[in-house]
Amino acid sequence: MRRDDAELVVSWRTEPSTAAMFFSAPPTLEEHLRWFDGPRWGRADYMVVRKDEARPIGVVNFKSIDKKRGCAEAGKLIGDLNSRGLGMATESFAAWLMYGFEMLELRQVLVRTRADNAANIALNKKLGFRLEDTFRSEAADGTQQIFVTMRLSREDSGGHRARFISS
Ligand SMILES: CC(C)(COP(=O)(O)OP(=O)(O)OC[C@H]1O[C@@H](n2cnc3c(N)ncnc32)[C@H](O)[C@@H]1OP(=O)(O)O)[C@@H](O)C(=O)NCCC(=O)NCCS
Repeated sequence: MRRDDAELVVSWRTEPSTAAMFFSAPPTLEEHLRWFDGPRWGRADYMVVRKDEARPIGVVNFKSIDKKRGCAEAGKLIGDLNSRGLGMATESFAAWLMYGFEMLELRQVLVRTRADNAANIALNKKLGFRLEDTFRSEAADGTQQIFVTMRLSREDSGGHRARFISS
């Protein structure tokens, strides 16, 4: 992710149905740039680029990267609504997990998602994540929501790694 991706990223995060899936309200452009220019400790943020149209369509990230314990929390967003439902989130997130396990040497990846985010839960399960926990929290739109925690260990990621490399 580069500084000049800011407007695009903020516009994706601000789309109401997308914003509702997060814990915190979407940032303004100024807030995003302040965050981008800051140290961003424990984070890795990449753009997802759609190859057939050579344009960015979303983001993947790791936060709370703990090198000592080998764990991090992962996130993803396909901001371009026309690029949803085409398997691109699955493909890019699988590649992102490989980056986490191979390059960042993670052993565990955690995701937290709203329990009604069916596409995200299905996608995560397909990549080997297991449901771990359920909790109630305020979502970014101010409503009380049920969230789930899902976890994938490096060992359990072997299957999708092989599938991804062979495709
Ligand atoms: C979550 C998100 C990344 C999914 O993107 P996507 O483009 O739909 O994902 P894909 O097409 O790769 O795969 C989605 C899978 O979920 C399935 N799915 C979609 N809607 C579903 C539903 N209502 N119930 C069950 N499964 C569903 C799809 O069939 C697909 O599985 P398949 O490939 O086996 O058919 C996208 O909706 C998004 O960016 N949402 C906003 C941000 C967000 O919620 N991020 C996650 C929070 S960390």
